Amino acid sequence: MSLLRQPILLLSRSEQVKKLVSTLPVSAGIVTGYVPGETTQAAVDATARLVDDGLAVTLDFLGEDTLDQAQADATVAAYKELLQALAQRGLASRAEVSVKLSAIGQALPGDGHKIALENARDICRSARNAGTTVTLDMEDHTTIDSTLSILRELRKDFPETGAVLQAYLHRTEADCRALAYEGSRVRLCKGAYNEPESVAFQDKLDVDKSYVRCLKVLLAGQGYPMIATHDPRMVQIASSLASRYGRRPGTYEFQMLYGIRPEEQKRLAASGETMRVYIPYGQEWYGYLMRRLAERPQNLTFFLRSLISK
Ligand code: FDA
Repeated sequence: MSLLRQPILLLSRSEQVKKLVSTLPVSAGIVTGYVPGETTQAAVDATARLVDDGLAVTLDFLGEDTLDQAQADATVAAYKELLQALAQRGLASRAEVSVKLSAIGQALPGDGHKIALENARDICRSARNAGTTVTLDMEDHTTIDSTLSILRELRKDFPETGAVLQAYLHRTEADCRALAYEGSRVRLCKGAYNEPESVAFQDKLDVDKSYVRCLKVLLAGQGYPMIATHDPRMVQIASSLASRYGRRPGTYEFQMLYGIRPEEQKRLAASGETMRVYIPYGQEWYGYLMRRLAERPQNLTFFLRSLISK
């Protein structure tokens, strides 16, 4: 892993840095590179552009670690507004939503788990009415058991609900086995949080090896794997494994983040693969931006320049 990854992720927890960075307008180049805007309108417009290019989309209303019930409610309302807007623009068959449970109450003291479940159910209902689906993002390792238990509950009524698993965790290969059943949509990513050695592989090579083992389990299984990576090697290995396991395009999909390797996104879509782009939007772009910078410290100079020139 990059030497700068850990310090950047630690900085992302600093309130002072957050205050300084949050004064950047969303129009600052470094922000718009990863986040198309702060409003529902901006998110839907970005979706329409990508759908026109033959891509599918999943949208994330930014926000996480909410300790405020009113904010959790506002996030649920934002998702409902978005889902309605997607349906009205005729985009719901190509665009779903991704939800962080910590943004809808999971971290609230006391009843957090229950509140997040009820809020997620509310969003799943709106998604179904709009004609689309929900995928639950995965956050730091302390939240995983709660998130997977909420997933199990939601899937009783909304079996189309997707999950995310992070290959950097020691437990994930087993979680992949448990979730590789028919109809189960599982997004496999490497993992973006700063996790301790006791739970996560620290070396990039070990994370990549784990990613490949997890890919094998998911592609050989009965579910619908969603291969979320920008790593050219992982994309290539996933394609070969898909043919080895007799998977046709459409029985799995590739996913990448908005603004990262856009040409490769279009290439994969043009080759007949389903390629879904994850679009984050909203005012709370700080934590998301810092995780992207931690993955790509080369962008740090560009980032510091936007701060200085503001
Ligand atoms: P890796 O970081 O090894 O990068 C491989 C290559 O991709 C790089 O060499 C570079 O070419 C390119 N690249 C990567 N990042 C770049 C950047 N920021 N700018 C430009 N180029 C870049 N994580 C999580 O913990 N929970 C979640 O719920 C999700 N959800 C999610 C959804 C989707 C659709 C994606 C694609 C990713 C996530 N992630 C996530 C993030 C994921 O865990 C991971 O942090 C990033 O995808 C980066 O890992 P890569 O697999 O791309 O490989």
